Amino acid sequence: MPNSKPILEVLTGQAQAVPPVWFMRQAGRYLPEYRALRAKAGSFLDLCFTPEWAAEVTLQPIRRFGFDAAILFSDILVVPHALGRTVTFEAGEGPRLDPLDDAAKLQTLATQEDGKVFAPVYEAVRRVKSALPPSVALLGFCGAPWTVATYMVAGRGTPDQAPARMLAYREPDAFARMIDILVEVSSRYLIEQLRAGADAVQIFDTWAGVLPPAEFARWSIAPTRQIVASVRAEIPDAKIIGFPRGAGAALATYIDQVPVNAVSMDWTAEPGFIRERIQSKVAVQGNLDPLALLAGGTALDHAVDDIIENYGNGRLIFNLGHGILPETPIDHVEQTLRRIRG
Ligand code: CP3
Repeated sequence: MPNSKPILEVLTGQAQAVPPVWFMRQAGRYLPEYRALRAKAGSFLDLCFTPEWAAEVTLQPIRRFGFDAAILFSDILVVPHALGRTVTFEAGEGPRLDPLDDAAKLQTLATQEDGKVFAPVYEAVRRVKSALPPSVALLGFCGAPWTVATYMVAGRGTPDQAPARMLAYREPDAFARMIDILVEVSSRYLIEQLRAGADAVQIFDTWAGVLPPAEFARWSIAPTRQIVASVRAEIPDAKIIGFPRGAGAALATYIDQVPVNAVSMDWTAEPGFIRERIQSKVAVQGNLDPLALLAGGTALDHAVDDIIENYGNGRLIFNLGHGILPETPIDHVEQTLRRIRG
């Protein structure tokens, strides 16, 4: 079957003897070829919005390692950028946005994106699609509204995203308006990525784990569920992976309410719980500790073996529990792939 893509097999219900594998942030600073193009591009957003460069960076880890999926090179914060917010990425500092930290400022948020902003992203998807080997899946993505909102409110990443949590408690109506806008824009954005050729999309909710259960239901689950419904209204068989990082036991609630094809687990997931409550219903993805990948040696081998042993008999896409760290040695990635593939 030369045209089959192992990742799509897993997402549609078919466990694979050798789990397909890709890594979150597989295109990035641990690769010298990424650093070279990043330096040439100048700004991070120019790299994201120049189709030739974004496509090239997307393909770099596929050429080097032969991963089973390519993930579009972009960022979750292109959505606030398309809504007219100022977004910059300073080297070594992470993202900076003009904060929307009170109800009055929230009211100024545009209700519609500037659609032209996304055109180069879709062009990058088309370019990658035509360059990929037939067995390799192309993944698109967006941030979940809650996680994108945390950056829009604080104007940056913070240790526990307290500014957005506070604003959601103090100004729930104004906050809900922003979440609703993000649901609409993100749905359109994912639909167009799929139309341009993405085989599946992942919704990154990096900050899901800072919310108490009722807030998790309101700000993480409900908006993500709406996005999935809007996307499937246009593309009924759209393949969608959810990543509510840090959800813990609430992962069960998440999959009961959000009809995703797979959930990505962070490295704290409890294997018995995941097998019985999650993997029995949907495919799972993950969940190697990025620090084990950084450490290498026998600790890495054992961590890889544990994941295969815990989840390898069911529907598994091997991945990290969060993004690869910039200091990660390339030979540790190679070691991991040899260990998985034999
Ligand atoms: O996974 C991939 O290879 C695809 C590309 C991708 C990037 N960001 C590139 C990037 C994806 C899927 C993302 C998602 C993203 N962006 C998330 C959700 C997943 C996660 O990691 O939690 C979040 C929260 C962001 C926001 C963001 N972008 C932060 C907090 C940072 C700074 C942290 C850092 O690693 O520098 C970024 C910048 C960023 N996004 C880089 C890359 C390769 C580094 C920028 C650089 O090269 O200077």
